[in-house]
Amino acid sequence: MAFNYISAAEAASLIKHGYNLGLSGFTPAGTPKAVTAELAKIAEAEHAKGNPFQIGILTGASTGDSCDGVLTRAKAIRYRAPYTTNSDFRKAVNNGEIAYNDIHLSQMAQEVRYGFMGKVNIAIVEACEVTPDGKIYLTAAGGISPTVCRLADQIIVELNSAHPKSAMGLHDVYEPLDPPYRREIPIYKPSDRIGKPYIQVDPKKIVGIVETNWLDEARAFTEADPVTDQIGQNVADFLAADMKRGIIPSTFLPLQSGVGNIANAVLGALGRDKTIPAFEMYTEVLQNSVISLIRAGRVKFASTCSLTLTNDCLQDIYDNMDFYRDKVVLRPSEISNNPEVVRRLGIISINTAIEVDLYGNVNSTHISGTKMMNGIGGSGDFTRNAYISIFTCPSIAKEGKISSIVPMVSHHDHSEHSVNIVITEQGVADLRGKSPKERAQAIIENCAHPDYKNILWDYLKLTDGKSQTPHAIQAALGMHAELARSGSMKNVDWASFDK
Ligand code: COA
Repeated sequence: MAFNYISAAEAASLIKHGYNLGLSGFTPAGTPKAVTAELAKIAEAEHAKGNPFQIGILTGASTGDSCDGVLTRAKAIRYRAPYTTNSDFRKAVNNGEIAYNDIHLSQMAQEVRYGFMGKVNIAIVEACEVTPDGKIYLTAAGGISPTVCRLADQIIVELNSAHPKSAMGLHDVYEPLDPPYRREIPIYKPSDRIGKPYIQVDPKKIVGIVETNWLDEARAFTEADPVTDQIGQNVADFLAADMKRGIIPSTFLPLQSGVGNIANAVLGALGRDKTIPAFEMYTEVLQNSVISLIRAGRVKFASTCSLTLTNDCLQDIYDNMDFYRDKVVLRPSEISNNPEVVRRLGIISINTAIEVDLYGNVNSTHISGTKMMNGIGGSGDFTRNAYISIFTCPSIAKEGKISSIVPMVSHHDHSEHSVNIVITEQGVADLRGKSPKERAQAIIENCAHPDYKNILWDYLKLTDGKSQTPHAIQAALGMHAELARSGSMKNVDWASFDK
């Protein structure tokens, strides 16, 4: 079939007020850019004429500025799911301007299929190749592309030559059936391929192909600092010790690691620790640090949903596909993060907390309980089902005015029932096999910053000390209340709370 090659502006003009867009991508990797940038201009023009113009965005995870950023600034987003990291979007959400549905990333595709988020009117997918019989070869991420391509009435393809055709073959596209017909997902090791390297669509649904040459908009991370380095070292030492005492098999287990500076520091330390054998990853995002470890032979194989790399690192992969082809696979997010597979493979999960409470409950998403930071991402998919679930964070934030260890989390993402290990630069709290009261001792002793240890011990004195999970309910959020009042949790005065 001969396709209709159109401009990004022509493609954007197909999108109407009230539409839901299904987008490819996961992080800025693999996300469409040109059509959403033009769509923002249309929204601004319509708003200038006094007309409403807002759309819903259904996608894999965060996107780049040419999507979430420009559309937020154009006030063009009514609804969005799931995870995002864009700072303008964050402000708009916390100002009540956008309805944001922050769900587990593994659930996104199936919730769209189940109809929880309404119809997908148009799918926009970034591809490195599309064939006349409707085979779409994705670029640097899997996301929810197979699902939105199947469900959408119309498909727009951004054919992006910044991703050469050598990217064909990186993907393993597989979409499970829905209940009651779903079967097991037959992945028994991270390198198993169970699908096809492309998405098959009805070519008649492809209403336009937009040719672009637009580099990915991956964020650059700041350099590691002594705190993140120490956290990384603590994680590596903990894992090496657990392997030595036989809890982790000597062949090691596949790792999931979050995104950001701590994740980079953890991977750096694991790469350096030669007592840990070369390992595999079953994760959702690969950063540059993993690619270096693959090059160094420290990571044998990496299954992921996206290549969230700097552009030179991504180009290195495209230029050396003979080397990487049997070392990296890209999957849709419902497979890269699939709870069944995570449990089966025995993944060791490593994610970052905003705050952790004395009993091991974790807040990953909300600042002081109400303001959205980014979202839960895949942290819940992995944590709940991991062989060992680890949370890391610096023990303090904002120059010490905030303790990351608090009596009670101000928002709840991962419960004490799922969290095994808490690691700060101060040390490691191993919560496995412990009762809540034992966990509180381990967390204060090993993870809290010295400036906050006595404050936390004093909090416990307010409780009856006997209940299954001792709390002084009226004071449990007292450190947060003090932060709001005086700007520092250090000023909390427990005596002001009634017993
Ligand atoms: N209270 C208030 N602010 C806090 C805080 C706390 N307890 N803890 C951290 N912060 C602030 C930091 O000061 C920093 O602020 P800044 O942007 O103004 O400098 C910001 O939160 C980010 O913290 P940082 O220490 O730089 O860590 P990060 O970039 O690694 O982000 C999370 C940490 C938790 C926000 C991030 O990892 C996340 O969104 N996680 C949830 C999703 C997830 O786990 N995905 C994993 C699968 S990929």
